[in-house]
Amino acid sequence: MDQGEQSISHTIDVDTPSVARMYDWLLGGIDNYPADRDACQDLLRIAPSTKALALNNRAFLRRVVKVLAKEHGIRQFLDHGSGLPTRDNVHEVAQRVDHDARVVYVDNDPIVLAHGRTRLVENERTAIVQADMRDTSSIFSHPDVTRLIRRDKPTAALFVSVTHCLKDDEVQPMIEAVKQRLAPGSFLVVCQLVSEHEKVRDGVTSLMATATGGNWGRVREEDDVRGYLHGLEIIEPGLCDVTDWRPDREVHPRQHVDDWVEWGGVGRLD
Ligand SMILES: C[S@@+](CC[C@H](N)C(=O)[O-])C[C@H]1O[C@@H](n2cnc3c(N)ncnc32)[C@H](O)[C@@H]1O
Repeated sequence: MDQGEQSISHTIDVDTPSVARMYDWLLGGIDNYPADRDACQDLLRIAPSTKALALNNRAFLRRVVKVLAKEHGIRQFLDHGSGLPTRDNVHEVAQRVDHDARVVYVDNDPIVLAHGRTRLVENERTAIVQADMRDTSSIFSHPDVTRLIRRDKPTAALFVSVTHCLKDDEVQPMIEAVKQRLAPGSFLVVCQLVSEHEKVRDGVTSLMATATGGNWGRVREEDDVRGYLHGLEIIEPGLCDVTDWRPDREVHPRQHVDDWVEWGGVGRLD
């Protein structure tokens, strides 16, 4: 059994918190259970600003997809760790720019597959694949990926708020494996949870590892994320708190959170 197969479950375990369902609750969604909500309450005790952080992250995802589609002509999106359906999902944003844009969602959580099949796959240009994002070769050879993502055309590979779910030695190999499969002119979008406060980094890392039964990596620091995008041309405005990545309206001071932030940006492949 390889790494990818090990982390794929087909049954929804409502007693163990899942990152997808916790994030859904933080965004105000209803696809979550008491165990997820209890874990979120524990999280809020360590990092009280986490609901604002989740909303800021989701707004970044919308903006980045729109910018890549509108200004860089990207028509293919591979969304790793896509999460539960919410408002303005990637295919809705991309297909508003171009009806023919293609989107494949990838997530290993069975609840994302269950809800995604009915609420994300609205047309034949959109698909959802249940896979472990570390299993790049299976993802790129999946029939829905080969049907929708042309390897000779630029693609945006999204890793938005997901790399903190992986262990230290898993992130870079995954990113390199994806880079090798992308056409020149493709983009990588990466952001993850970082904190300047050791207490938050250690507290959340330990809480999430225990709550999720080990399905968790680490809250990191900005330099870690910088390393993931090393060697790529980073597009404006560079790497930052994603709240400040090309905001489409004035950023209200209260939107800025300081317990921790989603930090990252966008790199272009030559
Ligand atoms: C915080 S959510 C981010 C959702 C979305 N990318 C966003 O930014 O709005 C993290 C997602 O990554 C998924 N995930 C975590 N580890 C994964 C793995 N190894 N393979 C695939 N998906 C994974 C979780 O199930 C969850 O849906």
